[in-house]
Amino acid sequence: MGQWLDNAVFYEIYPQTFKDSNGDGIGDFQGIIEKLSHIKELGCTAIWMNPCFESPFGDAGYDVSDYYKAAPRYGTNDDLKRLFEEVHKMGLYLLLDLVPGHTSIEHEWFKESMKAEKNAYTDRYVWTNSVWDEPEGMGCIRGISQRDGSCAVNFFSNQPALNYGFYKTDRPWQQTVDAPGPQATLDELKNIMRFWLDLGCDGFRVDMAHSLVKHDEEGKGTMALWRSVRTMLDEEYPKAVMISEWGEPDKSLQGGFHMDFLLHFGPSRYNDLFRCEEPYFSSRGKGDISEFVKKYMDSYEKSDRKGLICIPSGNHDMDRLARHLPDVHELKVAYGFLLSMPGAPFIYYGDEIGMRYVEDIVSVEGGYDRTGSRSPMQWDDTKNAGFSDAPAEKLYIPLDPDENRPTVQKQLADPQSLYHEIKKLIQIRQANPALQSNAEIDFVYVEKDMYPFAYLRSTDGQKILVIINPSSAETSFACSYEPKETIYSFGGEVSVQDGKLIVPAGSCGYYCV
Ligand code: GLC
Ligand code: CA
Repeated sequence: MGQWLDNAVFYEIYPQTFKDSNGDGIGDFQGIIEKLSHIKELGCTAIWMNPCFESPFGDAGYDVSDYYKAAPRYGTNDDLKRLFEEVHKMGLYLLLDLVPGHTSIEHEWFKESMKAEKNAYTDRYVWTNSVWDEPEGMGCIRGISQRDGSCAVNFFSNQPALNYGFYKTDRPWQQTVDAPGPQATLDELKNIMRFWLDLGCDGFRVDMAHSLVKHDEEGKGTMALWRSVRTMLDEEYPKAVMISEWGEPDKSLQGGFHMDFLLHFGPSRYNDLFRCEEPYFSSRGKGDISEFVKKYMDSYEKSDRKGLICIPSGNHDMDRLARHLPDVHELKVAYGFLLSMPGAPFIYYGDEIGMRYVEDIVSVEGGYDRTGSRSPMQWDDTKNAGFSDAPAEKLYIPLDPDENRPTVQKQLADPQSLYHEIKKLIQIRQANPALQSNAEIDFVYVEKDMYPFAYLRSTDGQKILVIINPSSAETSFACSYEPKETIYSFGGEVSVQDGKLIVPAGSCGYYCV
């Protein structure tokens, strides 16, 4: 694994809406190159970029039609190579988004597999033996092929499932994981990874990583598959890293991933923090952190430090954080948490300035309700907020129409801005080993429905107590640690009274103990 991962802070780029360099209304590689200094300045050290491969864009590029070719809307393979080079020149790293579970219906493999006569791609996807036989428990495409069969889909009905086999088979058309068809799919997947690693990427975020082997409730088949990928990487590309969209770190990390996300799905209770009716980080103070902590510790212990559990600020599939925490003060407290937890933090583009979820816009490229979280990056006060020179109606997704929308330019000029708070938090994290990805965590004060909560981060040489009170009321708790030096405080410092720690309303502090 790349050593750089030990202290990485990631930035997610949605290429469609980050920066358009040629005025066609859609972001591109050259635009990203022009804005790398923004990511570097913020203090992020690595980038995850959403899919950028040839695609009919039925699901914003998660429906690939050629894994070996950059989508022309973003540039050529050479342009992408140049992006890797520029990223590296800045001392940053870049992960591509790998979509191993399904393709577009326009992929040549799928077109071949729809043919009645047997060919090299007949077993590339999960097909039943008759159009009247639907694969149980999965959606399917049927009635569009010469071939007599139904093809399983993974997500939308235009995303046919690639065939990695079944962990348990109970129908004649289901193939075992070690059958030639599934093995050929896996070999091809490894070749795709080699291709992009050879061109200079640093690894992959893996889409729906849990979904490859079918009838595999416990994930055993899928874990074994990824372990074989990891073995290949360790031998051929030992610096490459992989993060999974899985949401169950105990499984994904055993499966050889270096990192996994806590997500809006899966058992992690991630939504309790930010995206539910009464989020813990709202100043209303009606949330609960205890269920989240229980689940988190469960994953932390089960995953046995095999890799990192990463908590993102958001992503292209979720509501913007600012939709649930509309007050910048609340957001700052939330980042005090996000940037002091173990695992590598991930900041979704625009979240560093508190970009809003754009309400009531028409779905773009299969985004539906996700579209509002994918609006153009707000750079400055020039045309289209500096995102693009195109006429406004040509923008890939409309801009946040609010005249007071946050921009990078405004926040750079304001020392009290969210941007500057996040930048400061990243600097503090980078300067203090106990706050970094692999340092231990112990929860010190976590009570059902109560505020504040507190945890200790520690390495051999340093112990930092983090105390967070998002609510608008002052609180107190009995603490066995005595805060000494203050490393960071926002919203006021804690004080000692009658043997208790008094924690100011809306505050977050890091203290050496
Ligand atoms: C993942 C992606 C999402 C996509 C889906 C299907 O959840 O993050 O954007 O639509 O997989 O590939
Ligand atoms: Ca463009």
